[in-house]
Amino acid sequence: MRAVILISGRGSNMEALLRANLPVEFAAVISNRPQAGGLAIARSLGVETIALDHTVYGADRAAFDAALAAEIDRLRADLVCLAGFMRVLTDAFVQRYQGHMLNIHPALLPAFPGLDTHARALAAGVKIHGCTVHFVTPEVDAGPIVVQAAVPVLDDDTPERLAARVLAQEHRIYPMAVRWYAEGRLHLGADGRVRVDAPRLPESALISPNG
Ligand code: GRF
Repeated sequence: MRAVILISGRGSNMEALLRANLPVEFAAVISNRPQAGGLAIARSLGVETIALDHTVYGADRAAFDAALAAEIDRLRADLVCLAGFMRVLTDAFVQRYQGHMLNIHPALLPAFPGLDTHARALAAGVKIHGCTVHFVTPEVDAGPIVVQAAVPVLDDDTPERLAARVLAQEHRIYPMAVRWYAEGRLHLGADGRVRVDAPRLPESALISPNG
C-alpha cells in the first residue's frame, strides 16, 4: 500500500503517521506551502518531499488540483492523507480520489466543521470535544466518519489548551484509521457509513464534568 500525505504547516499529524510503523509505504509528503515546517520533518525521516506552491496558480484552483493529481498519480499512491492541508479542493479532484482520501478534523463532526473549532466549541459551552478522521467528499468536513476521539472540555480551558488536548488524540486516531485502511478493514457502505473490522474494547463512557 502506497500513500501520500498532504500538508500545509507544522505537520504533527504527518509525523504521527510517519512514525507509527504502519504497513504503508509513504511515497511522499506534498505541501502547498514551500515554507511548511513539516517538510523538514519528513525529510529528516527519509521521506521524499514535494512543494507545490499554490500561489503560482493564482485563482486557478483546477490547474493547481490538476498538478497535484499528476504528482499523486506519478507516485502511484493508493491513499491520500490530508493532514492539516489548508486548501479547499475542487469537486473533480475529490471525486477522483473518493474512497481513497482521508482527512483529520479537530472537532467531533458533524459539530464544528470549518475553522477555529476549539474557540467555537468553548463559545458553545460543550463539555466534550474531540477529533474525527473521515473520508473526504466534495462537501467540506462532511464525509463518512471513520473514527472519533473525545476529550473533556475543562472550565479553565483556552482554545490553545483545548487544542493541545485534542491534538494528542489526533495523533492516536489518524494512524489507527490508516492502519485499518491499509489492512483492508475499512468498509465504506453504499449508505455512506463506515464499518471497521477491529476488535472491540470494553465499553467506557467519557462523562464531563465528572466531579
Ligand atoms: C490539526 O489540528 C488538524 O486536525 C487540522 O489542522 C491541524 C494540523 O496540525 N486539520 P498539524 O500540521 O498536523 O500539526
